[in-house]
Amino acid sequence: VEHRPLYGKKIVVTAGPTHEAIDPVRYIANRSSGRQGFAIAQAAAEMGAEVILIAGPVNLATPPGVIRWDVESAREMQAEVEKALPADAAIMVAAVADYRAADIADQKIKKKGAPPAPLPLTENPDILAMLARHAQRPKLLIGFAAETENVAEHAAQKLAKKGCDWIVANDVSGDVMGGSENSVHIVTKDGTESWPKAHKEVVARKLMEKIANVIGG
Ligand code: C5P
Repeated sequence: VEHRPLYGKKIVVTAGPTHEAIDPVRYIANRSSGRQGFAIAQAAAEMGAEVILIAGPVNLATPPGVIRWDVESAREMQAEVEKALPADAAIMVAAVADYRAADIADQKIKKKGAPPAPLPLTENPDILAMLARHAQRPKLLIGFAAETENVAEHAAQKLAKKGCDWIVANDVSGDVMGGSENSVHIVTKDGTESWPKAHKEVVARKLMEKIANVIGG
């Protein structure tokens, strides 16, 4: 018998990096592969949820039964996340760029010699923090934190700063970004659970089981 504890629930997942254009041919990005977010979307769909996966530029197939909206930049991602509301839970796995170019050049920027021209940056919207304050805030709001040191401690600070319910902290000091395994700490107001290193699919299913215990009918 199929186990569908999230039947009738709507879950929004963000995944992947964002690309922030500098000019028509260049962008600011990061090494996120999107694999952990896609695995979470797949696990949620397998448990019966209606899943909207808002994905930055990645090379991954859409998991069966998942609705996927592709975006490039943080601002596009924010707009799509708002369109996806209301939702029972939102899991913000995307590695959103903190900054973007203050102006996007219409033409390819030419090399002008030394010293190189500075690239003025401006701050991107924080989608997770925006959702935490939103009139249609999902009942369960989960952020991710990629840290290379003091992982659990930084995650606890992030929980308070972002206003979300849980932080899934992962140690990205090794080959987690792009790799197939992940070792995570689940930080909630009640404390921290540290899970053993496992394949991203296994972490995804375990996380969705924990989520189903909170929002499942
Ligand atoms: O502050 P930091 O980027 O480490 O926070 C990570 C968490 O916040 C992740 O859940 C990420 O998806 C989310 N985030 C976001 N919008 C941003 C930056 C981060 O939603 N601009």
